[in-house]
Amino acid sequence: MDEVPAGFLWGTATAAYQIEGAVAADGRGPSIWDAFTAEPGRVKNGDTGDVACDHYHRWPEDVALMADLGVGAYRFSVAWPRIQPDGRGPANAKGLDFYDRLVDALAERGIAPVVTLYHWDLPQALQDDGGWMNRDTAHRLAEYAAIVADRLGDRVTAWLTLNEPFVHMTEGYGIGTHAPGEALLLDALPAAHHMLLAHGLAVPVLRERSAAPVGLTNNYSPVWAASGAPEDRAAAAAFDVLQNRLFTDPVLLGRLPDMSAYGVAADGLPFVRDGDLAAIAAPIDRLGVNYYSPTRVRAPHGTPAAPEGGGSVLSEAGAHIEGAGLPFEDVPIDGHPLTGFGWPVVPDGLHELLTGLRDAYGDALPPILVTENGCSAPDDDPGRRDQDRIDYLDGHLRALHRAMDDGVDVRGYFVWSLLDNFEWAEGYDQRFGLVHVDFATGTRTPKASYHWFRERLARYR
Ligand code: FCB
Repeated sequence: MDEVPAGFLWGTATAAYQIEGAVAADGRGPSIWDAFTAEPGRVKNGDTGDVACDHYHRWPEDVALMADLGVGAYRFSVAWPRIQPDGRGPANAKGLDFYDRLVDALAERGIAPVVTLYHWDLPQALQDDGGWMNRDTAHRLAEYAAIVADRLGDRVTAWLTLNEPFVHMTEGYGIGTHAPGEALLLDALPAAHHMLLAHGLAVPVLRERSAAPVGLTNNYSPVWAASGAPEDRAAAAAFDVLQNRLFTDPVLLGRLPDMSAYGVAADGLPFVRDGDLAAIAAPIDRLGVNYYSPTRVRAPHGTPAAPEGGGSVLSEAGAHIEGAGLPFEDVPIDGHPLTGFGWPVVPDGLHELLTGLRDAYGDALPPILVTENGCSAPDDDPGRRDQDRIDYLDGHLRALHRAMDDGVDVRGYFVWSLLDNFEWAEGYDQRFGLVHVDFATGTRTPKASYHWFRERLARYR
């Protein structure tokens, strides 16, 4: 029987905009996702998060579902626009009260709250001033972190400052497939830096107010070269820098990775000011790791058909960028089953990723929380499709245990997601939940994978 260390956090994960709905309730301000989903053509089927799973009202039911599932932890995000409707200034008491009640209800059920401060729902008022392209947003996030930690810091089990800054930068500011919908290509790099700075500024703020471990969550993808040819290997290294190293080296090593493949010289980033890297490298206690699938790339072969705007193509997994003069081109991974999203199912990739992080960062790597892992499956034949999810989770849990047996220090694993929810640009089409949600009625129905995971968790007790 597989062992996990005492205190290992088994959980499920969600994010505020994807589940809460109630976008105008109790003084919540608009976020960039409210603005983005209101623009025609941005999200599949014109879906929005206006109602989503209505978790804002139905949360007691969701906490009960988790208690019945037997998880010991729940990763959720706090909606910044509920706490500071304009992204700055005094706290909105009703917004804080909501999370206060949730945290208490979790504690009553013995479920440890793992809180993400920022899962992409920037207050629109800050976007009006440039959003993450504006350095000031980093200071605003630190101020918001202080408000949340003052209220919840005595009961939170772990903090994650940011969720997936790579995806937020590339999809939100690089190619515009996510909010705020800007297509700046590589000119989006300041957004990456300002998010990392926000993380670095928030770390001491959280520490002053809470004894809980602090970290951030990145989505990592092992990068495979399409061949052993030097140009394909160089392409793989270049993609690894963009997705994996750019958001980790500054935090763990206090320096930027070599960006020369992007034509960026070491001193060529004028928005990186003296002292920034030291702030970003504030020691962290946990690294949040989201894993969905590996990425296979080759050297660019001519110009692929560029989408409107002359940009590039990037999947939700963050795996498929191409065109726009980038030093790599995405190639499909064959020979593996595909999820509903079309992402290849490669459980060994989780082992490769975890051992790879250990090898790359050594003593600089803090203990890991796998903060997201899971798959989407369409609703057409729930029984059969859910077997796909069971197989996905089973394979990835085996890979997780192999990595831990090989000495990687992992302290938690969270299934994405508890509920079917608003899957960003895909709207409600991609269903990631252990629990089915009927979006017309809000009715929750545990799927076969929920029952499977429940049995699996019971084995660890
Ligand atoms: C991750 C996001 C999460 C969810 C999953 C499927 O990139 O963090 O919100 O959309 O993908």
